[in-house]
Amino acid sequence: MDIRGLMRKTACMHLHVHVHSMLVFVFWVFVLANIGGTAAKVPALIVFGDSSVDAGNNNYIPTIARSNFVPYGRDFDGGKPTGRFSNGRIPTDFIAEAFGLKKFIPAYLDPKYNISDFSTGVTFASAATGYDNETSDVLSVIPLWKQLEYYNEYQNKLKAYAGEIKAKEIISESLHMMSLGTNDFLENYYTIPGRSSRYTPGEYENFLVGIAGNFIKQLYALGARKISLGGLPPMGCLPLERTTNVVGGNDCVPSYNRVALEFNGKLKNLTLQLHQELPGIKLVFSNPYYILQQIIRKPSLYGFDVTSVACCATGMFEMGYACNRGVMFSCSDANKYVFWDSFHPTEKTNQIIANYVVKRVLTPFL
Ligand SMILES: *[C@@H]1O[C@H](CO)[C@@H](O)[C@H](O)[C@H]1NC(C)=O
Ligand SMILES: *[C@@H]1O[C@H](CO)[C@@H](O)[C@H](O)[C@H]1NC(C)=O
Ligand SMILES: *[C@@H]1O[C@H](CO)[C@@H](O)[C@H](O)[C@H]1NC(C)=O
Repeated sequence: MDIRGLMRKTACMHLHVHVHSMLVFVFWVFVLANIGGTAAKVPALIVFGDSSVDAGNNNYIPTIARSNFVPYGRDFDGGKPTGRFSNGRIPTDFIAEAFGLKKFIPAYLDPKYNISDFSTGVTFASAATGYDNETSDVLSVIPLWKQLEYYNEYQNKLKAYAGEIKAKEIISESLHMMSLGTNDFLENYYTIPGRSSRYTPGEYENFLVGIAGNFIKQLYALGARKISLGGLPPMGCLPLERTTNVVGGNDCVPSYNRVALEFNGKLKNLTLQLHQELPGIKLVFSNPYYILQQIIRKPSLYGFDVTSVACCATGMFEMGYACNRGVMFSCSDANKYVFWDSFHPTEKTNQIIANYVVKRVLTPFL
């Protein structure tokens, strides 16, 4: 229809056009509200875990498990080191963006942010932590039970900020993500004596699955209904593990990958079981194993050149304070590398994993 032609006609016709555009307008408001309504189904992303999802909580506790210095963050929002263990954003930042919430999820202990920021997303995660209290003790970081205490405190602040009813609605509609477990094996079980003298790998897996199950039940009791439980990556392929696998020709360590697969199977089972036990829960198992394995096996498909060593420093063993301003040889283009430091993916890898998880696992929440 030629709107301008109609506009030149009588007042009566003007009215008609106005009514017509009103209807068009109402139609679009309806469509947009619908889209907005769908996005608002997840008003916040609430995150628990380790360095895979820590945005800088460890900057505010006394630990050496830190990364708030260059070259960390050199590709993050103008080159800011935040405490994220990457050159840029981490998976939960990309997931929050995909949900239309924000471009990055702030750390709960960061005084630059307050409850008005946290009401749409927050991470309680702490690098170097695990399910097991003995894992978080190794580098004195925030144990999982403490992350739950912070979450409780957060809920009280949210009630004061948004009101009791609105806060409860935010909690029950928000997506709660858990991402941890690698450190229980690599930093604890296989590195320091203790757990390994008391448990076989299979028994230790069961011990951790028990803690994961209790944690999910506690989240549920606090009102959470949408939960994503993250699995382990192929942890035998992290550059640090390859570097130390001298007899295996610096290839991935098969026994670590087997344990990751077995543990993931048990976590998957746990989610199926809790789905039956807890009415109204929407619980998904989010598995990064196969996508990361595919990237490592066929890096060129994703535009990567290097998988076995990391970008920072020699790429063989440096992470945390060993990956710092003074080190030489850091790669010039992190996008060519799957791993940023010897233990953590580059921003580009994080983005690929996040996209995969959003499309394959989190669709029920989108
Ligand atoms: C949060 O911080 C912002 C900006 O720093 C400030 O304007 C706002 O009043 C604060 N909100 C609350 C609830 O403290
Ligand atoms: C971990 O420590 C907390 C606090 O002391 C305790 O409540 C919890 O039971 C411990 N978890 C396990 C599995 O021992
Ligand atoms: C998962 O549960 C099924 C059925 O209960 C069982 O047969 C299977 O062995 C379990 N898998 C793992 C990895 O625990």
